[in-house]
Amino acid sequence: SEQIDALFRTHIAEFPDFPIPGVLFRDITPLLRDAAALRAVIAHWRTLLPEGVDYVIGTEARGFVVGAPLAYEIGAGFVPVRKAGKLPGSPAGLTYDLEYGTARIEIPEGSLPAGSRVLLVDDLLATGGTAAATLELARRFDVEVLGASFLIELAALGGRDLLPGVEVSTVWRIED
Ligand code: PRP
Ligand code: MG
Repeated sequence: SEQIDALFRTHIAEFPDFPIPGVLFRDITPLLRDAAALRAVIAHWRTLLPEGVDYVIGTEARGFVVGAPLAYEIGAGFVPVRKAGKLPGSPAGLTYDLEYGTARIEIPEGSLPAGSRVLLVDDLLATGGTAAATLELARRFDVEVLGASFLIELAALGGRDLLPGVEVSTVWRIED
């Protein structure tokens, strides 16, 4: 919608060459700190989500920030996928490549029952590496992936190609 487009233009700050040269970092913190903007974006975002979600899964750190309010809004639980070393017990883990560097993610032991319907949520779809890794980890538990939804999609990086067969939605798609 035009209201949402206007919010993105005014509430997403751009930082060239962060965290490494050649990367244009888009900072969502101005959007998060504005109460009316945050409410409007979450209210719009929830209309893009599938019905029947049991668990929203979101990857540390920004996937927590957007995933928990969306889970609350749609009446689903929230499962945090954490960077390695933070979870007690025997979490399942997976190492993957991201836009810059590598990372290892882990999911809480016993958090996804077989057959449960999950929705992946994150702030950004860039290369798709984070989302693909998170879904690969979740699928070890024989869940049904209902979709993946992102606040911002950098379409030129082709992240959707790493999510074959996944219903992808995005609030704000940047083409170039
Ligand atoms: C960022 C962003 C996405 C991911 C997208 O996470 O929050 O999770 O990159 O990039 P990709 O599609 O190329 O994988 P990052 O781990 O950099 O930082 P965060 O801990 O602030 O979420
Ligand atoms: Mg992230």
